[in-house]
Amino acid sequence: MKLLVTGGAGFIGSEFVRQAVKRGFDTTVVDKLTYAGDLERLKSVEDKIRFYKADITNREFMEYIFKTEKPDIVVHWAAESHVDRSILDASPFVDANVKGTQVLLDLSKESNIRLFVNIATDEVYGELEEKGQFYEDTPLVPNSPYSASKAAADMLGRAYYRTYGLPVITVRPSNNYGWWQYPEKLIPVVIIKALNNEPIPVYGTGENIREWLFVSDCAEAVFEIIQKGKIGEIYNVGSGQEKRNIDVVRTILNILGKSEDLIEFVKDRPGHDFRYSLNTEKIKKEIDWQAKIKFEEGVEKTVKWYLDNMDWVGRKLKYLKDYWGKVYK
Ligand SMILES: NC(=O)c1ccc[n+]([C@@H]2O[C@H](COP(=O)([O-])OP(=O)(O)OC[C@H]3O[C@@H](n4cnc5c(N)ncnc54)[C@H](O)[C@@H]3O)[C@@H](O)[C@H]2O)c1
Repeated sequence: MKLLVTGGAGFIGSEFVRQAVKRGFDTTVVDKLTYAGDLERLKSVEDKIRFYKADITNREFMEYIFKTEKPDIVVHWAAESHVDRSILDASPFVDANVKGTQVLLDLSKESNIRLFVNIATDEVYGELEEKGQFYEDTPLVPNSPYSASKAAADMLGRAYYRTYGLPVITVRPSNNYGWWQYPEKLIPVVIIKALNNEPIPVYGTGENIREWLFVSDCAEAVFEIIQKGKIGEIYNVGSGQEKRNIDVVRTILNILGKSEDLIEFVKDRPGHDFRYSLNTEKIKKEIDWQAKIKFEEGVEKTVKWYLDNMDWVGRKLKYLKDYWGKVYK
């Protein structure tokens, strides 16, 4: 089975690629290597994959890749993925997430693929109050430019299935965390700032709730869906591990033996969704999959990984200082 993995040099995509190689898939990776992409994440498997540095919006080059590689399955992770950046400038999000997805769906339609796995997000559903859950048929009411662009991509996948019979499965994972995450997202930001004894920016009062899914669980779920999922269906992929942001920060400070005095509440993110929570009965029942890693275990592993990989973090930090100045005020 030949896999074409987009965004395979990113945080979750690279975990998926490392697992694909372990599972014996013939794997081709396409990635533009934006600020968020990094081939170091694929070093351990570099001689076992084929890699193209390509922008998924570049139809001509993507067509060449499809014709050369003749994939059976496309697993589409590539995206601009950071909500805060989408608030500063939505354009790259519409280009990569909407246009890029359309190009891939078109090329998949023209070639003989068996499956197109369209990676969406829990954020397409909008936000929840204290109670309730998102089901696969909950209407999509995204609130950020990021989630709006992902909802558009999600709906394009649906449309290509309904209109052209393209074999699409849609996957909506919750917040991922773990090794190799770019240090602009909450958990690595907290680890790095705490290690440097710098103030840790927490939006608003830190009450917002996310459902934390360890990155290896997320990738594993997608392999199970490839094997057992039904064409045209949507699968939520969550962990049931809901945590308030402030509690995530406290857990990390506790692991690192750092004081809570480092916490600094900053102006809330505009349009900040209060809570996400996925109902995962469908994937449990139909695919027999559930997340293995509990938050406390995953966060320990994550902290350890960052401690062991401070060289990599250091190289990223050079570019991040400016950006942090723009988002945390
Ligand atoms: N991180 C999460 O918590 C989370 C949760 C649910 C869903 N998702 C989705 O999972 C996917 C992967 O997320 P991530 O956190 O690994 O993101 P990431 O930002 O770490 O990686 C995205 C990758 O896509 C590449 N890319 C961006 N634009 C591209 C383009 N035009 N052409 C080719 N490659 C391009 C980047 O270079 C990068 O390697 C995304 O679709 C995201 O929306 C992420």
